[in-house]
Amino acid sequence: MITPSFLQAALLFLAVAAPQAAYATLYQSADAAAAKTSRTKYDYIIVGAGAAGGVLANRLSEDSTKKVLLIEAGSSDYNNTNIRIPWLAPALTGSTFDWNYTTTPQVGLNDRSIGYARGKVLGGSTSINYMIYTRAAEDDYNRWASVTGDSGWNWNNMFKYFLKLEDFTNSPQVVSASTKFVPSLHNTTGPLGAGLPEVTLATDNIGLQAQQQLSAEFAYNQDVNSGNMIGFSWTPFSIQNGARSDSARDYIQPALSRSNLDVIVNAQVTKVVQTTTSGKTPVVRTVQFQTGSGGKSYSLTANREVILSAGAIGSPQILLLSGIGPVAQSKSLGIKSLVDLPDVGQNLQDHPLLTTNFQVSSSDTLDNLITNTTFQTEQLAQWEATQTGDFTLGACNQWAWERLPSNDTIFKSVSDPSSGPTAPHYQLIFSDLYIAFAGGSRPDGHFLTLISNLYTPVSRGNITLRSTNAFDYPIINPGLLSDKGGFDIHAMTEALKAGRRFLSAPAWKSWIVGEFGDSASAQTDAEIESFIRQNALVVNHVSGTVGMGKANTIAKGSGALNPDLTVKGVIGLRVVDASAFPFIPAAHTQVPTYALAERAADLIKACD
Ligand SMILES: Cc1cc2nc3c(=O)[nH]c(=O)nc-3n(C[C@H](O)[C@H](O)[C@H](O)COP(=O)(O)OP(=O)(O)OC[C@H]3O[C@@H](n4cnc5c(N)ncnc54)[C@H](O)[C@@H]3O)c2cc1C
Ligand SMILES: *[C@@H]1O[C@H](CO)[C@@H](O)[C@H](O)[C@H]1NC(C)=O
Ligand SMILES: *[C@@H]1O[C@H](CO)[C@@H](O)[C@H](O)[C@H]1NC(C)=O
Ligand SMILES: *[C@@H]1O[C@H](CO)[C@@H](O)[C@H](O)[C@H]1NC(C)=O
Ligand SMILES: *[C@@H]1O[C@H](CO)[C@@H](O)[C@H](O)[C@H]1NC(C)=O
Ligand SMILES: *[C@@H]1O[C@H](CO)[C@@H](O)[C@H](O)[C@H]1NC(C)=O
Ligand SMILES: *[C@@H]1O[C@H](CO)[C@@H](O)[C@H](O)[C@H]1NC(C)=O
Repeated sequence: MITPSFLQAALLFLAVAAPQAAYATLYQSADAAAAKTSRTKYDYIIVGAGAAGGVLANRLSEDSTKKVLLIEAGSSDYNNTNIRIPWLAPALTGSTFDWNYTTTPQVGLNDRSIGYARGKVLGGSTSINYMIYTRAAEDDYNRWASVTGDSGWNWNNMFKYFLKLEDFTNSPQVVSASTKFVPSLHNTTGPLGAGLPEVTLATDNIGLQAQQQLSAEFAYNQDVNSGNMIGFSWTPFSIQNGARSDSARDYIQPALSRSNLDVIVNAQVTKVVQTTTSGKTPVVRTVQFQTGSGGKSYSLTANREVILSAGAIGSPQILLLSGIGPVAQSKSLGIKSLVDLPDVGQNLQDHPLLTTNFQVSSSDTLDNLITNTTFQTEQLAQWEATQTGDFTLGACNQWAWERLPSNDTIFKSVSDPSSGPTAPHYQLIFSDLYIAFAGGSRPDGHFLTLISNLYTPVSRGNITLRSTNAFDYPIINPGLLSDKGGFDIHAMTEALKAGRRFLSAPAWKSWIVGEFGDSASAQTDAEIESFIRQNALVVNHVSGTVGMGKANTIAKGSGALNPDLTVKGVIGLRVVDASAFPFIPAAHTQVPTYALAERAADLIKACD
């Protein structure tokens, strides 16, 4: 039997009716909001309702004396069943909840253009992501602190925000939970639900045995979120009670009952504009927004601040449209330059991804959820009845995060791009089914998929405007695997080799039949490199495009934001989202974004 291979093709995108808004404060379009919001004086206007925007909408509206407006380009359909069911996450990429961006042809990927997913709905990318829950490494935050000169960003000072944001409560189904994470490092009373996978897979024990057999290379790490990520560990997810946790559900919805918060959905901010001047410095507290490209344009001015949380593509796009960016770019498009800020749109970083498939002898794999429609129907019914079963699962139960050995020959020519010894160079995900993100037909049989990803890229990309029309997508060049020194392709190659070593442990003998498909014949380093360039994709962690740096220095390479996330050279404007990371953390990026926004909320409140 040949069925479509990508999960998305096999798992139905369920047809469910969009719920009607039940809140007086949730406007369904710019036009619907215009009459009321034009009479309201907002203290804060937040642009974008993703990881960061959700946190800010909630925290800034805790003070009932402050009026807060949140503007989101996507819909309010965050209760959609496709979003709520964790197992359906892959079906959200390329759906109505995805902006559907595409990259430029990537030189490092044999000139392939690839899809670049971003959430477009209340919750932003947290409503379409794969829900993996990692804080990142101690050294990653310490590097942010040293790059910005602000010790507030270091691990020890950020730790209170990791606790503040989370409700890490495992389902009672999780077997031996206390050996799979360190409870004392977690909080159970914050807003964002998280926990460990609640379904035991046949591969779980084999993975543990393999780790023990190869413990010299793959040490057991009891909690990937301790600050030291290195080793083999269990995978935490932003999943709770069997359903997705995201910023819409856990941060925005609880704040909707507050009368001092308004939310406008289906409204895209097209630019920010100068409100006035203070001394010689432009004050930028006005936003323009509209519903759809032909819609009427409205503008609103905040009393205190406009905060861009439109994500690492949306936020630089808005700044560039507003003349806040490299002056040469403004000029070439005929945009009046407000501030010459060379780093806006630069410094883009992301994690390249590679999947390889291994055929297995067992028929007890999650492939059944795709190939056996009876089983799929049963599991869906079980989820709908009790939010339990296989539909509560994410992409894997176990993984490993590892570093290249310090005597690796690459370090003779390239200095180590990682932030330090607690940060991994690469990640190995072990998935209990056939996955091929690029599509193609799904082969018959049962599989294990190794996903080997680079987490310390040297390569940098950029975002530039295609035109002055805010509804034209910007030109997105993540520059994947393009670094001159060849670190990235080398580390990707070593990652695949390490994954193969792990899967060659004696424990896998009775399970894995052999590597399957084209990757199997890629054996020499040169063959592996060419396989990677032809097949690598991306983990969708776009970061760094409006990076923070040391205070007040505007020169190229010194950051577009001050350490408190205010935009250099203007008054009244901040960027709070994954754009602000000066270096991409060696981890999945949602928790770093939530934590950055939690600190930002405190910084903003402290300006009172
Ligand atoms: C497919 C996919 C899988 C991922 N998997 C994981 C994972 O498993 N674990 C993990 O940690 N991270 C994952 N990520 C990354 C993570 O979700 C992001 O790093 C995080 O959501 C970034 O938060 P943000 O606030 O910067 O931006 P976003 O969450 O993207 O939010 C930006 C919001 O701004 C809105 N917006 C943009 N432009 C405008 C405008 N002009 N006007 C109004 N609104 C606008 C967008 O619609 C969106 O709602 C994944 C991402 C994707 C896309
Ligand atoms: C989403 O569902 C919750 C109940 O789980 C409900 O309280 C809320 O009103 C719903 N939100 C919307 C926008 O429909
Ligand atoms: C993304 O593409 C899908 C499939 O073509 C489409 O249904 C969806 O509307 C697109 N998303 C947006 C935001 O336009
Ligand atoms: C846990 O989260 C709650 C809510 O955010 C917070 O008040 C509390 O201080 C956190 N606990 C710790 C130990 O930080
Ligand atoms: C498909 O799933 C059903 C229900 O769980 C099960 O009874 C049946 O044996 C499965 N079929 C195959 C071919 O595995
Ligand atoms: C690195 O050191 C290990 C032992 O510590 C050794 O086995 C390996 O061959 C060395 N690699 C290189 C490239 O020198
Ligand atoms: C963006 O990156 C590409 C590829 O490195 C480069 O050619 C281009 O000049 C860059 N654009 C800007 C504005 O920096």
